[in-house]
Amino acid sequence: MAKEVVLSGIRPTGFLHLGNYFGAMRNYVRMQDEYNCYFFVANWHSLTTHPDTKELQSAVHRVVAENVACGLDPEKVSLYVQSDVPEIAELYLYLNMLAYKGELEKTTSFKDKVRLQPENINAGLLTYPVLMAADILIHRAVKVPVGKDQEQHLEMARNFAQRFNHRYGEVLPEPQAFNFGGELVKILSLDGEGKMSKSENQLNTLYLADSDELLRKKIMKAKTDQGPLEPNSIKPAYIENLFTLMKLVSNPDTYSKFEADFAASSTGNCIIRYGDMKKQLAEDMVQFITPIREKAAAIQEDKNLLARIIKTGAEKARESAHATLNEVRKAIGMNY
Ligand code: TYM
Repeated sequence: MAKEVVLSGIRPTGFLHLGNYFGAMRNYVRMQDEYNCYFFVANWHSLTTHPDTKELQSAVHRVVAENVACGLDPEKVSLYVQSDVPEIAELYLYLNMLAYKGELEKTTSFKDKVRLQPENINAGLLTYPVLMAADILIHRAVKVPVGKDQEQHLEMARNFAQRFNHRYGEVLPEPQAFNFGGELVKILSLDGEGKMSKSENQLNTLYLADSDELLRKKIMKAKTDQGPLEPNSIKPAYIENLFTLMKLVSNPDTYSKFEADFAASSTGNCIIRYGDMKKQLAEDMVQFITPIREKAAAIQEDKNLLARIIKTGAEKARESAHATLNEVRKAIGMNY
């Protein structure tokens, strides 16, 4: 039986962080043996925020290197750069005719960007979810490993696929967001305010490229408080996030010990020591990130290797994209 198709992408808009890793990349690595996988660097999407394109080039290389350093095997998957697959742009054009201004304007990510960059509300920003749908549907992918923040975009991709199939005939399967363990992941920023993100709140974000010292410093500065007021309290978001990170990188006994300390603590009887917890978390984080950082740095130095990975990835991706586009054109009647 043919393997199910998996696709996901990352924008090269800054350094990759723990949210990218646990929301997306960890799943990529786990899926690479079982599925037919396409992973790419979404450099067209980056243009919606008008980055310095000189920096964009090294950022693309860094994202490729970090993906490989996290365990992606470019022999098993197609790891490519979006702009190397022009078939995506043609599908984007067809899907744009099926996407409506009203629904695009209501998208959460669009509303956020309107707030953040009122001087640059370009059409690419408005149709961002359409390009993302084209990325997915061009390989007829059914599983899309992403973090929680991409859920709405996936719902829109399903709508566009449905509309296409309804109008022109069944060609495009409906993709689903995916995470091992079921629930999509959202890693918060270290102050507990909003999600960890590539460019904002740099001191509250743990990057895969951070030095050991910087990781320790950021974690020791993470927001805590005087401890729970009563036993079995509900954790505030910034404390919950420290536990989430500990669950991801520390050993289960360590996690359970701090969890039990928290549950038993109350005013006047504070058993949990947030200072100790952060020290432990910092050491476990350093153990976790150091090998990834070192491997990524070595790959980034090897420009020939990077060029080879990107070229082979694009060849595999174009073959699959070309086959889908043929079906799409036939369905619309654009095969003269
Ligand atoms: P991007 O580049 O913002 O993020 C890449 C991946 O990391 C996940 N992620 C998080 N997960 C958990 N907690 C966080 N704090 C966190 N921050 C980021 C994201 O959910 C994503 O999976 N629009 C996409 C890129 C894209 C794409 C696609 C993804 C373009 N086309 C097609 C999938 C399929 C984006 O901006 O991701």
